[in-house]
Amino acid sequence: MEGIIIREMSSGDLPEVHALEDQCYSTPWSINSFKHELQNKDAILKAAVLNHHIIGYVCVRTILDMTHLLNLAVSPEFRRKGVGSMLLLEVIKDLKRLKPGIKLTLEVRQSNTAAVKLYEGFGFKATGKRTGYYQKPHDDAVIMELDIN
Ligand SMILES: CC(C)(COP(=O)(O)OP(=O)(O)OC[C@H]1O[C@@H](n2cnc3c(N)ncnc32)[C@H](O)[C@@H]1OP(=O)(O)O)[C@@H](O)C(=O)NCCC(=O)NCCS
Repeated sequence: MEGIIIREMSSGDLPEVHALEDQCYSTPWSINSFKHELQNKDAILKAAVLNHHIIGYVCVRTILDMTHLLNLAVSPEFRRKGVGSMLLLEVIKDLKRLKPGIKLTLEVRQSNTAAVKLYEGFGFKATGKRTGYYQKPHDDAVIMELDIN
């Protein structure tokens, strides 16, 4: 989509990021969770910005030999326009540069077809399942992994 910029997230973005988080999840992160990640040197947070407003964001953090995709969300009115893919692509580009050879892993609700399809499109493979991992509503998690190289 034209006019969208993907840039590093900063603390000034947090009010808008948190409002979007509330819209996107039944068990949203608190502002403090985002603050905590922004202060973590092993985390990468990016924002998708259109006309000075946040329309999506992503957060990953490397723990030992794995990078965990912890959060990815796009504003409902801007979905299916490639924004989620742009965010994921930027993170993968950074990881290729900063952590060559690392694996990117995530958990996703089994019922979240949109996200599963997005990840499959990037080459993520399902490697396992965590039964009853999610509440509101109760759901299993599919574990997916992508070899960054
Ligand atoms: C998952 C999410 C981030 C996708 O963002 P998006 O900007 O809509 O994704 P994209 O437009 O880049 O979609 C890329 C591909 O993913 C798949 N996809 C995305 N949304 C889909 C949907 N609703 N149904 C089926 N496939 C979908 C398609 O293959 C799509 O490619 P196409 O449009 O060319 O067919 C967004 O739906 C969202 O924020 N959901 C709520 C939060 C969430 O579930 N986050 C993931 C947690 S693990």
